[in-house]
Amino acid sequence: MKVPFNKPYMTGRELDYIREAHAVGHLSGDGPFTARCSAWLESRCGSRRALLTHSCTAALDMAAILADLAPGDEVIMPSYTFVSTANAFALRGAVPVFVDVRADTLNLDERLVEAAVTPRTRAIAVVHYAGVGCEMDAILDVATRHGLAIVEDAAQGVLASYRGKPLGAFGALAALSFHETKNVISGEGGALLVNDPSLVARAEIVWEKGTNRSAFFRGEVDKYTWVDLGSSFLPGEIVAAFLWAQLERVQWLTERRQELWRAYHAELAEPEARGWLRRPIVPPHCVHNAHMYYVLLPSLDVRTRLLAHLKEAGFHAVFHYVPLHRSPAGRRLGRASGSLAVTDDLSDRLVRLPLWIGMTPDDVAQVSAVVRRVAGEGR
Ligand SMILES: Cc1ncc(COP(=O)(O)O)c(C=O)c1O
Repeated sequence: MKVPFNKPYMTGRELDYIREAHAVGHLSGDGPFTARCSAWLESRCGSRRALLTHSCTAALDMAAILADLAPGDEVIMPSYTFVSTANAFALRGAVPVFVDVRADTLNLDERLVEAAVTPRTRAIAVVHYAGVGCEMDAILDVATRHGLAIVEDAAQGVLASYRGKPLGAFGALAALSFHETKNVISGEGGALLVNDPSLVARAEIVWEKGTNRSAFFRGEVDKYTWVDLGSSFLPGEIVAAFLWAQLERVQWLTERRQELWRAYHAELAEPEARGWLRRPIVPPHCVHNAHMYYVLLPSLDVRTRLLAHLKEAGFHAVFHYVPLHRSPAGRRLGRASGSLAVTDDLSDRLVRLPLWIGMTPDDVAQVSAVVRRVAGEGR
């Protein structure tokens, strides 16, 4: 591949910090690098507590445990999302209730949320697709009026904001991803942001295998023991050391991605004007983080052809989520609320183009040329 879909970028300090963790001799979790990363996330997102996890999936699993769901309780979410958004709640016996997305941002359509609320609804899980914020004002309004918790799946949302507030700061709980395809990486990795102060103590317990070990290390209890549900959610210091090298440079990393995103946006303006494709839409009150550049093509057929042509030219592009309401587990464990026509339509037509630090403007131009040619063919 001349241009792979993703290439993890190292800032240069990762191995120094791993060496430092080794020299300090604290390799299990919750050590000095974990503390640095947590403090950074807490101050950046205004969260009461940030707990590093093995992945965003693990953070969502923690959120679902903290949401205290009983079997048959319902959680409203988009169908156009990664499997972990739904799996976390289904693992607790809850029922994912799938709602359609907006045609512009591909985020949960806030206008459809209230109609999905039933006496069993306990929470709304929002997903900020491509690092563009959901319409949180309207969603918070529904949640407040019906007494529902909000869990943000902000896997793609680091350093993006909605009306000036960071993504991940709106829900009682929010989950971030540091998977190697994300803006800030640690291979596999994630964090749970705890914004509701009443959940902090229990979140630490869930994080520490259901024990009050964190309180013990702070000298608040004289022995630690099993007090609640939990599991081993915390990563070791090697991962945290790696992550710290990335968090230190997050502004720079985001700016580099934004340059590439803007280059694609400029290259593909003309084909959009001709009606050959649609570029991403970012509402004026959202600041995105250039996590992803995608285009919507006229049909599944054109998408299939484009992926093949890009591959032939040495460029790796991919489609994205298979809607969960159409998946075998989604059918068995969840249900749809109303029509999911937008989800069905857009998911078949979306292509994610390569975007990683180290790509050149020329790479973007070459990929865009293939997109332009195939999207415009036969018109
Ligand atoms: C919306 C969303 N949620 C959760 C995840 C899972 O993240 P992780 O791989 O860190 O578990 C992803 C992965 O890409 C995602 O896109």
